[in-house]
Amino acid sequence: MTAFTYFKDDWTPVIDDYLAKHLADEVDSKKISQTMSYSVMAGGKRLRPLLFLATLNALGKKIEEPEIRIACGIELIHTYSLIHDDLPAMDNDDYRRGKLTSHKKWGEAEAILAGDALLPLGIQWIAQGSNSAELVKIITQAVGPNGMVGGQYLDIDSTNNESVAGDADFINKMEWLKTGCLIQASVEMAAVYAKATDIEQVKLIDYAKAFGRSYQIYDDLVDVVETSEEAGKATHKDQEEGKNNTLTLLGIDKSRKELRVLIKQAKDDLHGLNGEILAGFLDLYQKVL
Ligand code: IPE
Ligand code: IPE
Ligand code: MG
Ligand code: MG
Ligand code: MG
Repeated sequence: MTAFTYFKDDWTPVIDDYLAKHLADEVDSKKISQTMSYSVMAGGKRLRPLLFLATLNALGKKIEEPEIRIACGIELIHTYSLIHDDLPAMDNDDYRRGKLTSHKKWGEAEAILAGDALLPLGIQWIAQGSNSAELVKIITQAVGPNGMVGGQYLDIDSTNNESVAGDADFINKMEWLKTGCLIQASVEMAAVYAKATDIEQVKLIDYAKAFGRSYQIYDDLVDVVETSEEAGKATHKDQEEGKNNTLTLLGIDKSRKELRVLIKQAKDDLHGLNGEILAGFLDLYQKVL
């Protein structure tokens, strides 16, 4: 057991319980609540909320109910992005987190609305937990047109588009925006919330940038390395669907090499911090290396 696995095993059930209870208690309509909960509780890794909490922990900030509310708000927003990513008009996927996707289970309109409901509720939880306009600014910028949605737009635009196939700058930008921004925001919100010093902030943001960039490279490798059962979602389909990503650009060996470079960079960025748990997040990548 590593410091990271202890941390993950301690906090994942707390996150899960909070999500289940508060989605049931705070959403008036049983039907919408059920649709939202179905995807949220399907069993994600809770990477982003854990990253927020681990950053607080690294800065010596105590984790109590308000901090859990912020962390869970991030997970609601992430889950919204997955529900919409899977829609027939986007990646058209039938399985997510080992279960039928939201639109397959409930219908397309219901899935769109579940996503629409999760996004503002997530922002609400972050606002209420933090009481900070700065945190709301960080999260909304990270998932808006200059962040995640901007990246998803580039992804859709570049699917089956030969003209970007060899364009490393384009692919870097797309993958950074669609996936990196929210990961950076999870760390940055914790740094601001816990009032990190300037030096701590710089180190944490550098770590988050390397981690955020690496995560989509990892996800693209999952698509070719893991079975659908292992991944809980359809794999071996990005290339077939005409996706242009780091893997199609570099191939498997160079993608792995790039991932190793980013892992080292992220770990190096933590020097001088209480960063053992944060470094442990990078162990997740072992299965694709
Ligand atoms: C998958 O995210 C989508 C990406 C942004 C790459 P995760 O790999 O964190 O998925 P869950 O939350 O564990 O289901
Ligand atoms: C998803 O990227 C990014 C977001 C949801 C913002 P992918 O489309 O590669 O994620 P998976 O493979 O479906 O989880
Ligand atoms: Mg996608
Ligand atoms: Mg997808
Ligand atoms: Mg993927």
